[in-house]
Amino acid sequence: MTLTSKPLDSRTWPAFARLVEKHNGIFGGCWCISFHLDPEGGRVPSKLYRKMKEERVREGRAHAALVFDGKEAVGWCQFGPAAELPNIRSRKAYEAGLEELPDWRITCFFVDRERRGDGIATVALREALNMIAQLGGGTVEAYPEDYTGQRVSSSFLCSGTLGMFEKAGFTRARKIAMHRWVVAQDIPRYGGTEKLAGAAEPRKPRARKPTGRAREA
Ligand SMILES: CC(C)(COP(=O)(O)OP(=O)(O)OC[C@H]1O[C@@H](n2cnc3c(N)ncnc32)[C@H](O)[C@@H]1OP(=O)(O)O)[C@@H](O)C(=O)NCCC(=O)NCCS
Repeated sequence: MTLTSKPLDSRTWPAFARLVEKHNGIFGGCWCISFHLDPEGGRVPSKLYRKMKEERVREGRAHAALVFDGKEAVGWCQFGPAAELPNIRSRKAYEAGLEELPDWRITCFFVDRERRGDGIATVALREALNMIAQLGGGTVEAYPEDYTGQRVSSSFLCSGTLGMFEKAGFTRARKIAMHRWVVAQDIPRYGGTEKLAGAAEPRKPRARKPTGRAREA
């Protein structure tokens, strides 16, 4: 498998939309909009999510590193300035201990259900960090789950795993829920041709066992 990555933008929107549609809009039609929503803004009808997401993407108000295998997008890592992604999980606990907002947040991963377990989310994270570096760098926070040593439903892991982030150079800042951490890292501005080590290098595919997870998004 040869993976490449591209930013989510108006050119890559069709590939992103195909991946979302293949998974029924993901979680019954969320279109990866929830982290963008104003937490105090009241309920937004879900039938608007696709349109809202597309508008944001076309206006440069929604960022993600999209991972491609050939022409097909097979996964993403959503990131953006803190103001673009205000609706994080465990927000109240987060805000109670908040000293300073980060420049960037990494909030959501998704990998094609037929392609999981091959390191695609790990590649997406590295590519997101490279894109952040190219966009000027700064402090980056994420809110991954710590289920070290356990196998859990992959839908619990949409914010990534603690291990993925620690391997990518993040350190633990504080805990905001039983299994959820704030992790942080300073990413220097991209200054030339260097890329973060390991970018776009997938793991060797693992032998697959039937998982019974086919119904999940
Ligand atoms: C979570 C998810 C992104 C992982 O993608 P992936 O490409 O299979 O992940 P990787 O192969 O890069 O593995 C990353 C790490 O997660 C761990 N991991 C992946 N799935 C796991 C599971 N079900 N339980 C425990 N750990 C798991 C891997 O072991 C790996 O850990 P390591 O770095 O210590 O080896 C994928 O399962 C997914 O898309 N789940 C659905 C997420 C979702 O619903 N998103 C909503 C979008 S709106």
